[in-house]
Amino acid sequence: MTDQIHFILNDRTVCTSQPTGVTVLDYLRLSEKLTGTKEGCKEGGCGACTVLLGELQGEKLVYKTFLSCLLPLGELSGKHLVTIEGLNREQLSPIQQALVDYGATQCGFCTPGIVMSLTGYLLASEKDIDRAEVKTALNNNLCRCTGYGAIKRAGSKLVQSLGNGEVHNLETWIDRGIVPEYFRYIPDRLQQLPQSILESENDKVSPKFVIAGGTDLYVQQGDILAESTVRLLNRSPQMKGISTDGDRLHIGALTTFAEFANHSAMIELIPYIQTYIQRIASHTIRQRATVGGNIITASPIGDISVMLLALNADLVLQAGDDIRNVPLREFFQGYKKTAKKSGEILTEIIIAIPPSATKFNSEKVSKRQYLDCAAVNSALSVAAPSANAIRCEGDTIREISISMGGVAPIPLFLKQTSNYLIGKRVNQEAIAGALPLLQGEISPIADIHGSASYKRLLARQLLIAHFTKLFPEFICLQDFYATN
Ligand SMILES: Cc1cc2nc3c(=O)[nH]c(=O)nc-3n(C[C@H](O)[C@H](O)[C@H](O)COP(=O)(O)OP(=O)(O)OC[C@H]3O[C@@H](n4cnc5c(N)ncnc54)[C@H](O)[C@@H]3O)c2cc1C
Ligand code: FES
Ligand code: FES
Repeated sequence: MTDQIHFILNDRTVCTSQPTGVTVLDYLRLSEKLTGTKEGCKEGGCGACTVLLGELQGEKLVYKTFLSCLLPLGELSGKHLVTIEGLNREQLSPIQQALVDYGATQCGFCTPGIVMSLTGYLLASEKDIDRAEVKTALNNNLCRCTGYGAIKRAGSKLVQSLGNGEVHNLETWIDRGIVPEYFRYIPDRLQQLPQSILESENDKVSPKFVIAGGTDLYVQQGDILAESTVRLLNRSPQMKGISTDGDRLHIGALTTFAEFANHSAMIELIPYIQTYIQRIASHTIRQRATVGGNIITASPIGDISVMLLALNADLVLQAGDDIRNVPLREFFQGYKKTAKKSGEILTEIIIAIPPSATKFNSEKVSKRQYLDCAAVNSALSVAAPSANAIRCEGDTIREISISMGGVAPIPLFLKQTSNYLIGKRVNQEAIAGALPLLQGEISPIADIHGSASYKRLLARQLLIAHFTKLFPEFICLQDFYATN
């Protein structure tokens, strides 16, 4: 038996038996001849291939934007796939009209992706729409000829004309012409879809590739995934979500970056997590890339891995009935080499919730502020019995964990530097004393992100930045420029 994937494509119910690992972009352009979805970079970086995917969550139909060049066909099962052709009518939608009115399209290559991103933003907005959010929604869409001024002006026009304090839902967006009339019947039609048959997901099949968000795998191996057996982890709901159990936080490996940053338990643990996460990838990628995928790729600059190292996370790995725990600090063994055994799946990440007075900071330096990988990134977690106790007991560091990426073949826990600082008071002398140890622990190499000496300089600056940000009452930048 072959795979049979049932879904709705625009206003048409579809069943395909194409391989699960084919990208939605190739399927749309090559099989369906829907060429409005453009192929640009095929690496998740340009947004020309943006589509909408609607999924029933209980009674509610929830739409999100996805990059079809990184999306496996099997993910469409039971869902509503919307392309630019599915939004087009005789009349332009208010989004399309705004882009025309403000001269926000020239060659037009990027325009379908921009329309899809703006439509996705509106469908996900239940309250007032907001200029800053419109900008975030577009941060994965590159335009090479119009210039962003006109696109931003079109976005502002939309905010003015649509952001009028009403409560929005799918019905109101249909009434306002943002999406066509046929969207009204999609919830019922999705409920009536036959169950997909994904033979390649069968336990007896040993897949060549395991796909979580696909945001790394499709960039690295996109060419061969279409012809390979793949297992889509997203079909395992038990590996999603975040929960607490006493003093431990359980993060399902399939938790996306966006879910990770928006969960109340994470915000309590890392109060500025939403600021930090804005610096990771783009809005669209963050809805898809998973925490588990960030760890398993073992990139030396993995932003989430670096944060989790500072929180001393534990990993739960499973192969069949065999389950084992591995501390994240022992997981990375060499460049893109890990302690994961063949056939093992990372199911969850566990963090022991630190005492409430623990402070956390994350830093990232990259060439562009947004949508760029780190040259060097770093996180620090520092514990004291209470905020006051830091002061009363002479600002003594009781526990500290510092991690750094981009300075070694693996995301690095800075063991010697961290150990040195335990028991020290937070002052210029202690940090200056830690700097030679830091330089001894790291071994950066020159690459596209910068020279080895530049990364050594960044490592120093980021260690200082952690302390000046977390303890401005004890230490400031000038302390270092005067003496170092
Ligand atoms: C445009 C763009 C920008 C990016 N920017 C950043 C950035 O700023 N910072 C950053 O850190 N990363 C960035 N990334 C990299 C990437 O998104 C992340 O590393 C992401 O976390 C990978 O997760 P995924 O779920 O998409 O993994 P996938 O691509 O699905 O999988 C990656 C690898 O891990 C394996 N795998 C995944 N999950 C599991 C599991 N649970 N158990 C066993 N094996 C598993 C897969 O088999 C595969 O080998 C960017 C990527 C793109 C395309
Ligand atoms: S083609 Fe560039 S993001 Fe998909
Ligand atoms: S209009 Fe030409 S790339 Fe945007």
